[in-house]
This record gives sequence, C-alpha cells and structure tokens, in this order.
Amino acid sequence: MTLPRPVRAEAGEPVDVTMTVNGTEVSLSLPARVTLADALRDHLGLTGTHLGCEHGVCGMCTVLVDGSAARACLLFACQLDGADIVTVEGLGRPDDLHPLQEAFGSHHALQCGFCTPGFLLSSYDLLAHKPDVAEEDLPVELSGVLCRCTGYRNILSAVSEVAGAHRDGIPEPRNCGHHVLMGHTAAKPGAKSAPEPVGVEEIELPQGDPTFTVEVTQELTASPEKTWAVLDDIDLVAACLPGAEITEHLGDDRYRGQARVSVGPIRLSFAGLAQVTERDAEAHRLRVIGQGEDVGGGRTQAVILLVAEETGAGTRLRATAQVYLTGRIAQFGRALAGDVSRRMFEQFAAAVEETAVSGVRTTARKPPGALALLAATLAAKAREWGRRLRRAEHNPPTHPKGTQR
Ligand code: FES
Ligand code: FES
Repeated sequence: MTLPRPVRAEAGEPVDVTMTVNGTEVSLSLPARVTLADALRDHLGLTGTHLGCEHGVCGMCTVLVDGSAARACLLFACQLDGADIVTVEGLGRPDDLHPLQEAFGSHHALQCGFCTPGFLLSSYDLLAHKPDVAEEDLPVELSGVLCRCTGYRNILSAVSEVAGAHRDGIPEPRNCGHHVLMGHTAAKPGAKSAPEPVGVEEIELPQGDPTFTVEVTQELTASPEKTWAVLDDIDLVAACLPGAEITEHLGDDRYRGQARVSVGPIRLSFAGLAQVTERDAEAHRLRVIGQGEDVGGGRTQAVILLVAEETGAGTRLRATAQVYLTGRIAQFGRALAGDVSRRMFEQFAAAVEETAVSGVRTTARKPPGALALLAATLAAKAREWGRRLRRAEHNPPTHPKGTQR
C-alpha cells in the first residue's frame, strides 16, 4: 500500500480525491475529516463495509487498499488519491461468489454477519500474501478482526478449507469492473470544476439481480387504443405517476425528470433520466429504463414494462418493474419498498384509466402524495394482519396430547 498523501485543508473545506473502487474510478469532493469507511458507505452507497469501534480495534471495517488489508475507519478518504480499493461488494456477486464467501456459507461461519466483510477481506489479504499459512497459525493471523457472535471456530474452518484448496494463490476478487456508483465519475483531466454526477447523460443498470420486482395487473374500462394513447405520450405517463415530473426532452426518446417520495421521516427527491427503449404501438407495449439520484445519497434504477392487453370488456394494464436500490433508500427494506412501489403502480393505473376515459391530455388532478402511499401501504398491511389475527382466533393451533401450552 502506498503511503497516504499529506493533505492540508480548512475544516469543512472540500478536497478532491479520485480512487478506483471495485474497479470503477470515482471522483469525490469531501471534507478532509471524512474517513474512507464513511466515503464508501455514505457517498458511494457501498454499505457492505461495516463500522464497529471506529477506533481501529475491531477490524470490522477492513477493506483492501492497493491490495493490502487496511482499516477503513483509520484512513481519511482525501489521503487516498489514486488508491485502488476493494470492498466486500467487489469480492463476489450473488451469482458468482468468491471461494471465501462460498466457504463461509457452507461452514456456517457467520451468525449475525456483522464481522463477515472484515473477516472476508482480512482472510483474502492473508491468503494472498501467505498462501502456505499453516492451519495452526490461523487464529493468530486472523486475530485482527473480532466476532461478537464468537463464531471463530467455523470462520477458521472456512478459511482453512480455502487455504488448502488454493495453495498456489487465492483467486482474484470477482466483482471488480465497471459499476454504477452513487458518487461521481472521474473528473476530466485538468478540469477544476465539480465533476458531473454519474449517469447525468447515461443510464446504466447495475449488474446482478434487482432489489425487488413488482408486478401489477389492473383491469381498465378504457379501450386498449385509448389506454395506449396515454402510454404513448411520455408527459402523460409521468403525470400519471405519483410525484413524478418530466423537466426536459433530450431527444431520442430520452427525458430528464424528477420524482419525490417520502416514507415516514425520510424524504427523497430524485433527479434523473428516463429512456424509452421499446415502443410497440401494435402490441401496445412500452419499455422504459430510468434512474434517479437523491441528493442525500440514494439511487434507484428501474426497468419498467407496460403492456395494454385487450380483454373484451376493456383493457388489462400489466406493469412489471425491476427495481434496483442503493444508498439510504435501500434501508427501507425490500418488503416496504416493494409495497410502496406496488401502491404507486396501482395509483398510476387508476390515473391512466382516468386520463384514457376523459381524453384530457393534461392532468387536471394532482398526483397522489407520497405520504398517502405509505398510509395506504400501512393500512393494507394492517388489514392483512387483522385478517390473520381473526383467522388465528377462529382456528387456534392444535397441540398434541400431553404437551404444555
Ligand atoms: S470500525 Fe474500524 S477497526 Fe473497528
Ligand atoms: S457473526 Fe456476528 S459479529 Fe461475527
């Protein structure tokens, strides 16, 4: 690892730093006091790096800096200009795990999993630098990371198995390539101005599986042709989507826009791009990809397919959305985010119906507020829980004879 560069800056004064993180070059402008761990988590959305003690004691925050293990809580991001960082996100992908990740899984080497990213990268560093490490030395070699679940025995078995299988060298990290990160693209050489946010002119979907997929089908009384007339007009589509707005037509069926969502105390305001990638008037199919970035550091990307099918009595509007979340929006959890998205699509379908039936090109009514979405989602949940409770009361669980209740 190269020595961190010395930096002199006033408190709060932003310092430009360019690093390669999991194979992608990123440029950030950060106050000098921001640690590498905070830069990764809060500015790049890579929350796999965990913080325990923030004092260099627990090793939870271990990442690779220029190929060697380092505690991300003890390094300031601005000192790492030009450094190459690998985090647990770079080690493997859900569909292509690194052998260490496979071994941790098969040996049950994680309980709560909080120490796992630190152990994985610490083990990687050990096996990369000392592939012939003796099994009996593993406890000392890996003592730099603490597991509060005390799962050490299984962790040692997992690392020992990988060491035995790869005496000639541990396989390279498997997920280092070009990724969409929430930060910024590298500044152009010589450019002093603030770099452009990633994806300002380009939509790039993340690799791997979406965070969740939403499928909604709604029966409309409007004919497929009238429904398609709405879907074929991107301004109307946006107007029917709660909280969304098109601000600029960029040509080639690409659009700039914004969307506002609030869930409880979290308010998100996304600015982003959308692009129509399929517009089939014959089959009444519209495929849109979009991405938005929240100023507070959240990113959502989606592939949305809308199909208007003839039913005889009207139209069946099918909406399928594959949604990718990173950053603080991801903390909502899949279930709640999925429910909110489903509500949005239901309200979208209702607005499409209203517009198709009335034939009014401008939306007279305001799209439903995002808080209403949450309220509707929670109300639906409450109804479901109520139904379950009533079912449980009517059908109490049976207990085998002789068992105590
Ligand atoms: S959080 Fe960095 S060592 Fe504990
Ligand atoms: S598995 Fe919980 S801290 Fe290690």
